[in-house]
Amino acid sequence: MDFEAEAADVGAAAGIDTSKASIARVYDLFLGGKDNFAVDREVYETIQAVAPQGDEVAKSIRRWLNRVVRHLAGFEVGIDQFLDVGSGLPTAENTHEIAQRHNPDSTVVYVDNDATVAAYGRALMEENDRTHFATADLRDPAGLLAAPQVARLDFQRPLVLIQCATLHHIDDEDDPARFMKRYVDALPPGSYVAISHWWDPGEELPEGHRMARELEQRWRESSMGSGRYRTREEITEFFAGLELVEPGLVELNDWWPDGPRIRETSLVERLILGGVARKP
Ligand SMILES: C[S@@+](CC[C@H](N)C(=O)[O-])C[C@H]1O[C@@H](n2cnc3c(N)ncnc32)[C@H](O)[C@@H]1O
Repeated sequence: MDFEAEAADVGAAAGIDTSKASIARVYDLFLGGKDNFAVDREVYETIQAVAPQGDEVAKSIRRWLNRVVRHLAGFEVGIDQFLDVGSGLPTAENTHEIAQRHNPDSTVVYVDNDATVAAYGRALMEENDRTHFATADLRDPAGLLAAPQVARLDFQRPLVLIQCATLHHIDDEDDPARFMKRYVDALPPGSYVAISHWWDPGEELPEGHRMARELEQRWRESSMGSGRYRTREEITEFFAGLELVEPGLVELNDWWPDGPRIRETSLVERLILGGVARKP
């Protein structure tokens, strides 16, 4: 039996549907990961055909997440509890590694609804007794917050809610602004919310707008079936009730970069915004 067939067999046994691309596996593929099937590679190729710098987008997202966690866990802010929703497959520099490097007492709870993440990710993510993984759907805040692993976080003390590259996989019909409000309401004052989200820049960047429309159509028509490039105003709504910290909702490479820019940011990399906000 070849690798693909064997992997499909193992996948089926673990409840993984290998006939459809998975968001987590496709994203991991853009990051250079190996846990993927032909259906995932098909989506990857469809996107690369119009945006060959797609790998750079995934890396920018990862680097942004790392800078955010470092800032919030580090001495400037000093938070020691992280709820990383839609955490994806484990890869280089996961949230708990960054948080615990800067604040060794940090507890990190990962949540995802993907069967591959549950089957293969859990063991790698739950590396120590302050790192936990829960399977839950982020569209159901009540169910997610009631998960026993999430209950390990102390909601009487500030924590960080991470929605990194997740909400653009949620359709408008699921009303992400409404359920984000439920999460924000559950957070104690002094907590932070970090969100990165695909961006349709409209007239601000017409060639970016055209590419966003093309990419959205390709993602949605693929077997992965989801993807929304939202406007700056739509993304800002997800921060309702919070105070955005400097520099606000910006292109990822502009959010407290680690150093001088040594290469030009490609157009597709510009089509995602990130922001961090504090609950007063
Ligand atoms: C693009 S990946 C981002 C992974 C990770 N946050 C990062 O930035 O490296 C999006 C993740 O969100 C998860 N996801 C999508 N819809 C979800 C839902 N309704 N409930 C829970 N997780 C979801 C996917 O399974 C995937 O792992």
